[in-house]
Amino acid sequence: MCGIVGIVSNSNISDRLFRCIKNLEYRGYDSCGLAMLTPSGIEVRKNVGSVDDVNAVEHLTEPQGSTGLAHTRWATHGGVTQINSHPHLSGDGAFAVIHNGIISNYRELKEELSASGHTFVSQTDTEVIPHVLQDEFEKEQDVERAMFKTFKRLKGTYAFAFVTTHAPRQIFCARKESPLVLGIGQNSTFLASDINSFIEYTRDIVILNDDEYAIISDDTYAIKHVQTGERINRKVQHITWSAAAAQKGGFPTFMLKEIHEQPGTVKTALNIPQEEITTLARMIHDSERTYLVGVGTTYYVSLTAHYYFAQLAGKFLPVVSSDEFEYSAEVNERTLFLCCSQSGETYDTLKALRFAKKRGAKSAAVVNVVGSSISREVDHAIMQSSGPEICVLSTKAAISQMVVLLRTALEVGRLNDTLSEEQYQTHQHELQQLPDGIQWVLNRRLSRIQEIANAHAPIKNWLFLGRGVYMAIGMEAALKMKEVTYQHAEGMAGGFMKHGTISLIDKEMFTQVFVPPASQTDLYESTMSNVEEVKARGGFVVGFHFGASDPKFNAEVIFPDVPPLIAPLLQLVGGQLFAYYSAVKLGRNIDKPRSLAKSVTVA
Ligand code: G6P
Repeated sequence: MCGIVGIVSNSNISDRLFRCIKNLEYRGYDSCGLAMLTPSGIEVRKNVGSVDDVNAVEHLTEPQGSTGLAHTRWATHGGVTQINSHPHLSGDGAFAVIHNGIISNYRELKEELSASGHTFVSQTDTEVIPHVLQDEFEKEQDVERAMFKTFKRLKGTYAFAFVTTHAPRQIFCARKESPLVLGIGQNSTFLASDINSFIEYTRDIVILNDDEYAIISDDTYAIKHVQTGERINRKVQHITWSAAAAQKGGFPTFMLKEIHEQPGTVKTALNIPQEEITTLARMIHDSERTYLVGVGTTYYVSLTAHYYFAQLAGKFLPVVSSDEFEYSAEVNERTLFLCCSQSGETYDTLKALRFAKKRGAKSAAVVNVVGSSISREVDHAIMQSSGPEICVLSTKAAISQMVVLLRTALEVGRLNDTLSEEQYQTHQHELQQLPDGIQWVLNRRLSRIQEIANAHAPIKNWLFLGRGVYMAIGMEAALKMKEVTYQHAEGMAGGFMKHGTISLIDKEMFTQVFVPPASQTDLYESTMSNVEEVKARGGFVVGFHFGASDPKFNAEVIFPDVPPLIAPLLQLVGGQLFAYYSAVKLGRNIDKPRSLAKSVTVA
């Protein structure tokens, strides 16, 4: 995730461009840069570091002009270097592009364009965009037509914007699955990833939808459809948010914003190039033993993956909490150490990784922060590109890691012949339904979950039960609950409950049960027998389940009928929302719960 800004005005924009990019720094902070159209061409200034750091070296407000772009980067492809920072120029210097998203076919485009004489200087996917634009402009001799042709060649997700010496009083921008909004000011028009960027200059906005592009100038703008070029009329909206609310995209907290970003981050995880997944699958396939390692949320991510590997690939992958790894794992040259880490800096996970490497193990990781220690130290890092996660509680990063590991389990299943080609293809198809499934839960079940959370927020003790992968989901949901509400929530296997914990059940101990679809007959029936056991002892049961309403539950949330492969992940979103609204009711500090830190870099 990166932040993009553009301004066209009838007066100098240098100070405004700087303020606008500063306001977007939370979207990415490893490097930044700008491009200004000047009488002598496009001037680019960029470097690594925060906006203030880069400004100290590059003097970002020096270039004067009235048409310009700026970008703050959260690296996905290519390390954090000055060359990889945006904007990127075409070979002839006539186009400067900023981009948020991932161009998934950038390797093919680079090869194709290199063969026809283009030279690339960065390791980024973005750099192909100005080169394709130049290529198309040479044929079309018209900027809009060149842009239109460019869309047809780009695959992946983007919000991008460009300026060009061929049309110096305009900015061109387009959106496909990454946010983009226009700001309509007095003799100035803005574009940005986020309203927060320009809210101090205008509150009149026009939101671009997917597959739309816009051409803006100081006093007008046109929105058109990417496929047809047809003009779209959209009303200007006036927003009343404060600047602080705008940074959260209008959400009251980062946690809620990040929960709502999940359909998008899951799509990003589904778009990670297949070869990266296959490389990891081969490493697992070729190892004698693969450990799944993580701590806190990533431990539960690993536990979820453990069940997917068992079901889909017939592989038993032991899960070890990072902090316990040294004390229990048997490691040699045939071992694969596979960890997940949002920050890539967690001390316990890093220490376990170094321990494993010292004993000759191969290593791999799914990591969110580019350039982080874990991503640099493993043999194979998959960058999940979920964008900055600001709330201490991990939501969007965790679900994306689960998706990456689920994709990997499918690949191992194929290598192992545990899955037939037909089953493999069916599951791939099912996985594609996940973003819409999550969106459905957010649209259709949020208020029901909020209602139950409000009614029971004062309950001090919760048991979260599930079996199989639903146990892992229940445990992660319980972690969310205790982290943010400070109420006791214990995740546990339904079968395990009756061997001790059942003695705690009474009217004050509430239970939330993560029930699989009824089509998974054994799992469903044994989970429902746990519901009976709790109820028989006077316990109150909240059921997260699929199918018809069931009077056995004291309160219920019914999830949509989706394939069993993705069903547990929808319940996880339900669990996140439940923890969130319970904490809201209790007046907790949601984004920064007491005693917790986003990245624990100490022993
Ligand atoms: C800390 C955070 C947790 C997180 C864990 C692992 O304990 O409070 O929310 O799950 O670290 O962090 P990582 O960055 O490695 O995913």
